[in-house]
Amino acid sequence: MSTLEDACTTGRKFTVDRYPRQSRLQYMQSMTVPTNLAAIWFALNRVVSWPIFNRMGRGGRLDASQARSLRGWAVVTNGTGNLFRIGKDSRFKGTVEFAGDNNRVLIGVDCSFQGKIFVSGNDQSVVIGDNSGAKGLYILCAENCDVRIGKRCMFSREIEIRTTDAHSVVDRRTGKRTNTPASIQIGDHVWVGLRAIITKGATVPSDSVVAAMSFVNGQFEEEGVILAGAPARVIKKGITWNGARKRRFSERELDHWKG
Ligand SMILES: CC(C)(COP(=O)(O)OP(=O)(O)OC[C@H]1O[C@@H](n2cnc3c(N)ncnc32)[C@H](O)[C@@H]1OP(=O)(O)O)[C@@H](O)C(=O)NCCC(=O)NCCS
Repeated sequence: MSTLEDACTTGRKFTVDRYPRQSRLQYMQSMTVPTNLAAIWFALNRVVSWPIFNRMGRGGRLDASQARSLRGWAVVTNGTGNLFRIGKDSRFKGTVEFAGDNNRVLIGVDCSFQGKIFVSGNDQSVVIGDNSGAKGLYILCAENCDVRIGKRCMFSREIEIRTTDAHSVVDRRTGKRTNTPASIQIGDHVWVGLRAIITKGATVPSDSVVAAMSFVNGQFEEEGVILAGAPARVIKKGITWNGARKRRFSERELDHWKG
């Protein structure tokens, strides 16, 4: 499958696979860099990034032993027993911040994530499925909610996923809050365009596209659709999407993401 980077870059220069499916060490060895230099660079990279990365606090755990690369921070501002796990061959660049107890951020295998994940509260989960990628994604998971993102999803830049508005809208008559927080569910093989916002209670079906600048707050069930607008509505049905750019796709390619 094409990587997120392949899909999002333009121009001929990047039509080759810039991130072959092999370890960073193997990749560097396959280039003209002398093996020993590549090995030293690789080892230093891991050793140096590890201690500054991990600030998981009391009872907290960072499980990233098989990740391909890590850049950034995993911090607990207060709380205990939080877990950040990133799967085999995945790349992470950004911040994971916990404020609360027993939360989980689980990123699958072969993912490429750039952005920030902020979990505020207790016993909540943010799960990102295998082979998913994000170029600039902010996830706010708070007020006893979860965020679940499926496999093979692709997020462009400046995207927000948030389970809460962070402040209350109050009905003057009853004194009750009207903007209740809720969990968010995103299916498998979803492509989210530039600057979209997916907000409290939204459900995005598998094999769908969220158009650029959309505000998704509804629960959509039918797969193979484009959601667009603010608030987002179904604007096309019976579609799929593909990271490759060409005029026609074979039957097999239409369902490649199911494999
Ligand atoms: C979703 C998208 C792929 C749809 O492309 P498309 O299939 O060519 O769709 P069309 O241009 O035929 O649009 C169909 C309708 O949806 C509307 N529409 C398309 N994108 C929209 C958007 N972002 N917001 C609101 N309406 C939108 C069109 O105006 C059109 O409406 P009409 O039928 O009333 O004229 C594209 O509009 C988009 O948003 N791309 C995101 C690109 C991106 O973020 N790339 C980042 C790289 S990872």
